[in-house]
Amino acid sequence: MSTAADVAALEAAGVEPGASPETWTALAGEVLRGLLATPKTLPPKLFYDARGSELFERITELEEYYPTRAEAALLERVGADIVATVEPTELVELGSGSSTKTPLLLDPIASSGRLERYVPVDVSAAALDAAVPSLAERYPGIAIDPHVCDFTSQLDRLAPAAGGRRLVALLGGTIGNFQPVEVRALLAELRAVVGPGDALLLGTDLVKDPKVLEAAYDDASGVTAEFNLNMLAVVNRELAADFDLDSFRHEALYNPTLERIELRLRSRRPQVVRIEALGTEVTFLAGESILTEISRKFTRESVERAYDDGGYRLRAWYEGGGYALSLGSPRR
Ligand code: SAH
Ligand code: TRP
Repeated sequence: MSTAADVAALEAAGVEPGASPETWTALAGEVLRGLLATPKTLPPKLFYDARGSELFERITELEEYYPTRAEAALLERVGADIVATVEPTELVELGSGSSTKTPLLLDPIASSGRLERYVPVDVSAAALDAAVPSLAERYPGIAIDPHVCDFTSQLDRLAPAAGGRRLVALLGGTIGNFQPVEVRALLAELRAVVGPGDALLLGTDLVKDPKVLEAAYDDASGVTAEFNLNMLAVVNRELAADFDLDSFRHEALYNPTLERIELRLRSRRPQVVRIEALGTEVTFLAGESILTEISRKFTRESVERAYDDGGYRLRAWYEGGGYALSLGSPRR
């Protein structure tokens, strides 16, 4: 269904894709599959339009959302050790967003005298546009090579490593937004950019009291609720849909069996939503939900298992504040 002809037909019908035709058509397909499935789902990438990226920044500053602060404190403590272990000349950061924590890695690499290049990768052009100028100013001698793309499928766009070693970071607990089978596929795909002497740096939130976890994804001031609901506004804009945001409510529940937070949008009433660009209508029962994101919580054992399944070995483990950083390298 993902053809240029489809896009042309939609454009002729007055529906203007915001992204490139390939990206947009792929997204339309994902939305259609997700909303026709039982239970309904939507792809988490849809969170991060300009508004969503801005709301996520506010999430990272919330009292209840501890992971960002925990990860920053940990990077501050062990950044130099990570750099001494890997000896990188370049940092590739997947899902870099605002790059707020990036200096905690770039500074120790710069101090080692080896820093040559920083490659931020994000689906959000708005986030990269906002982050890159100040980094260029802070690190004048280095190459900054941003890529607006999907790190699960478009990493072939990255220039090959310049010769030195590469540190590929996936921070913010983003790896936890993928199911175990998706993590395995991602780690396999990452072998194309993480060579044998290179290293992957993963930030993972750890299993803890469900009350603390649920509060982190359902703050008292409602920012996370607004972030979750913004996804419907993105579908409305990108696919000419008519979701009524007020008739869905935000929900964040910890699933102790699967060790993950599950974020949903739950329909407050029976309703039919028209998605013009997909030429379809989606029916919701009262109380029916859309699963919009999972955020998995790890233990050292489950992180090691993930590396192992993906063909990597764990090289270093650092934890603090209920959060962990780990280094992994591909097994040959
Ligand atoms: N690393 C930052 C941001 C984490 S939020 C931090 O730790 O605070 C996740 C980021 O990943 C967002 O900026 C989002 O736009 C990006 N992202 C999510 N899925 C992506 C994908 N498949 N490809 C590229 N970027 C993605
Ligand atoms: N990677 C982040 C996490 O799992 C993303 C995130 C934080 C998030 N808060 C959220 C996603 C609220 C959806 C809703 O912690």
